[in-house]
Amino acid sequence: STGVRRTRDGALAVAGADLREVAAEHGTPAYVLDEDDLRTRARAFAEAFASAFSPERGLAGADVYYAGKAFLSVAVARWVHEEGLGVDTATGGELAVALRAGVPGAVIGLHGNNKSDEELTAAVRHGVGRIVVDSLSEIDRVAALAAAAGVRAPVMVRVTTGVHAGGHEFIATAHEDQKFGLSLTSGAARKAVDEILAADSLELVGLHSHIGSQILDLAGFEAAARAVLTLRADVARTTGRLMPEVDLGGGYGIRYTAADAVPPAPREIAERLATIVGDRCADLGTAPPKVSIEPGRSVVGPAGLTLYRVGTVKDVALDGGAARTYVSVDGGMSDNIRPALYGAAYTAALANRRSDADLVSARVVGKHCESGDIVVRDVALPADVRDGDLLAVPATGAYGRSMASTYNLMPRPPVLAVRDGRTRAIVRRESLDDLLALDTEA
Ligand code: LLP
Repeated sequence: STGVRRTRDGALAVAGADLREVAAEHGTPAYVLDEDDLRTRARAFAEAFASAFSPERGLAGADVYYAGKAFLSVAVARWVHEEGLGVDTATGGELAVALRAGVPGAVIGLHGNNKSDEELTAAVRHGVGRIVVDSLSEIDRVAALAAAAGVRAPVMVRVTTGVHAGGHEFIATAHEDQKFGLSLTSGAARKAVDEILAADSLELVGLHSHIGSQILDLAGFEAAARAVLTLRADVARTTGRLMPEVDLGGGYGIRYTAADAVPPAPREIAERLATIVGDRCADLGTAPPKVSIEPGRSVVGPAGLTLYRVGTVKDVALDGGAARTYVSVDGGMSDNIRPALYGAAYTAALANRRSDADLVSARVVGKHCESGDIVVRDVALPADVRDGDLLAVPATGAYGRSMASTYNLMPRPPVLAVRDGRTRAIVRRESLDDLLALDTEA
């Protein structure tokens, strides 16, 4: 995060909290979240989009929804709401956390390619502002639930635009051959729109496009925006109904290591998208829609780091005579599955002291019973790295805790929020009792 500094005696500090003290008080491994950094990133998106899409510039405004899948807790939902964001949820669980934080249903969205009746009922009951439908049969189910509840449910249609973007195959979501959305080219998206327009208990809010994640090139967002705006204009021409909103999804990439490109800032993203929306709507002869986006990773990712303690250090000879130093830490693939799942690259830094020792080629590994349990595949660390040292792995705020598991019955680490030098657990460490509490024969 922007709040990381070295103390005078060489330790790392986050927002004024010395990580040696954080580790002593809360234990390791732990996720450390810089609250001001997260809030600043959230606010930057809200302000950039409000100004780029302002009515003075001929546009219809913009809303930012924080994608809770990246990391959601009651505290984080409150912070982003205080900074002017709504919350995008993907399950009834995420919805429950956002509601518990006091986020009004009207500024919550619900996604999912296979929502249960319980999830849809909760969304209707709490007045969720946008249920993003992902299949034709779901439209009938939402219509029936809304009719039974005596309300008109606001829905958006998740459109597959055919744009292929994003790093890893598992996180690209708008090409044809994957599970999300209703296809533009096959006509399924248009069919969904027509069915919603014909249903008395549904209100068609607009179209939704999410093309993937960890995207650094804005061209894909522009292509997707043009495609959904075209469908919106076609619908207006043939039915007389001009949908008020278009959501362009999340997916803005972040920097994990020094080798990664510097991602575009919220202001640049907002300006580029505002230009495309303005120009395209002018070409199509339609009034511009209100626009929304759903960033997750880019809000919370850089604000978090994982703090580990080194348990053992071992040198391994490589072919050709070189050596690799294996540094084992007290967490691993249970607190960060991304290296194993996507081959994701991270870096690591010595957090408890400064070292002037020569650098060695190191691999940071976890304590799980798998050789693929790698935290950082390749990092230069001081040759004197040793048992008891602390290591910080930056940019783990997104999809770290939210994808954590209890593999090997490892309790999941706490999430510690730091602000003005003060640290508090916003999610406490899981205990062995928590794990055993689910075992009905314990
Ligand atoms: N909106 C929708 C509909 C999404 O499916 C996603 C992410 C987002 C917003 C937020 O995307 P973001 O701004 O965070 O990139 N576990 C993977 C990422 C999966 C993303 C799934 N959908 C990872 O660790 O890279």
